[in-house]
Amino acid sequence: MADPTAPIRLDPTGTSVSQREWQRTDPILHVESLRKYYPVQDQSIRSVVSRRRVVRAVDDVSFDLYAGASLALVGESGSGKSTVGRAVARLERPTSGEIVFKGTRAGSWRRSVLRRYRSDVQLIFQDPYASLNPVHTVAYHLERPLRIHHLVSSRKEARAQVLSLLEQVHLTPADQVIDKLPHELSGGQRQRVAIARTLAVQPSVLIADEPVSMLDVSVRLSVLNLLSDLVRKKELALLYVTHDIASARYFTERMLVMYAGEIVESGPAEAVTQQPAHPYTQLLVAAAPDPEQSLRSGRRTVRATGENPSLINPPSGCRFHPRCPHAMDVCRRERPPKFAVDETRWSACWLLSGSEAKAGASPNAAVRSQSASSVTPPSALATAQERLEEPTSWSVAHD
Ligand SMILES: Nc1ncnc2c1ncn2[C@@H]1O[C@H](COP(=O)(O)OP(=O)(O)O)[C@@H](O)[C@H]1O
Ligand code: SF4
Ligand SMILES: [Mg+2]
Repeated sequence: MADPTAPIRLDPTGTSVSQREWQRTDPILHVESLRKYYPVQDQSIRSVVSRRRVVRAVDDVSFDLYAGASLALVGESGSGKSTVGRAVARLERPTSGEIVFKGTRAGSWRRSVLRRYRSDVQLIFQDPYASLNPVHTVAYHLERPLRIHHLVSSRKEARAQVLSLLEQVHLTPADQVIDKLPHELSGGQRQRVAIARTLAVQPSVLIADEPVSMLDVSVRLSVLNLLSDLVRKKELALLYVTHDIASARYFTERMLVMYAGEIVESGPAEAVTQQPAHPYTQLLVAAAPDPEQSLRSGRRTVRATGENPSLINPPSGCRFHPRCPHAMDVCRRERPPKFAVDETRWSACWLLSGSEAKAGASPNAAVRSQSASSVTPPSALATAQERLEEPTSWSVAHD
């Protein structure tokens, strides 16, 4: 019997190989069927006895992160994006699912390995105001992780490292920034300090959760460009979590679209935004047509009308069906599987089922070479788009 604690690597066919054979071309981080359910008490007036129920915040999410590449996780507020980030960074324990980091399965980690993982996988939060302690200087915030992880041996070395980190995030002249307190910096500068702090521990994965949504519009582009440069120069793997599909298109190579705890579409960012296959993605794209303009003008992303569904009692079948103008009977009955749109993309929508599209496309179709069985004839997308030719009946509203 296979040792369940053995380090594994999953190749495109799902075969496990030993860690010794793990290569840089393999995903740094492999996430498979991740679930995070939060227990809640149902104490509604109608329920005589309070019942334990769960919020299905993340339900069966899979993806890979690669060195030097960025992946966007896009969806409206409440769709489960931050929960994915926290579970992957192991700030919270997933309810189930598998995380394989550089070929090693998370379940087998000892405490010391988990500690190392938590510094290898760094989170950048939305709010740079809250993430820095107002009574400590920039130097303190950046020296601390260096000392905790024994990355410097003297005060002099620590200061030199901090100056170098500040230069890497373009906070120059660094010697004029190093002794400042957070309130002496702008929001954009504070977020750069927060990014420098994550770099201090030499991570291989960054999870940036809405990293610019609280910043002034004039600095959003430059902070995103900085992240993009760091991904390339330092060969980092970036998970960019955002509600803004326009910025995701602009800054990432691949994209996952999340709705009500599930991934509904996956593929190269350009293809997904230019020819969205899933009605929910179409709605997001229709609401935010021009990435650069929306970032520069600060126009708020338009939001779809309709309620986000309950994650305690999600809609049957396709969770999007109560809001979808194309909903069919099958949509209410059965959860759509992943249908391959082409050799790089899939979408979980029954509209693709009448074509030659095949169910069960690989969640990693966007980057892996495909086996013959998962390659979809181009007519699949054409069929879906024919059905979507009619003007869509949904409307969008500004925030
Ligand atoms: N600790 C928690 N307990 C119960 N429900 C939670 C908890 N954290 C998040 N949720 C719920 O999980 C869902 C997804 O939340 P979140 O991941 O923050 O979404 P997003 O980042 O996409 O806005 C929401 O319905 C939220 O209320
Ligand atoms: S599966 Fe049905 S309800 Fe869901 S997005 Fe597709 S057409 Fe709409
Ligand atoms: Mg969030």
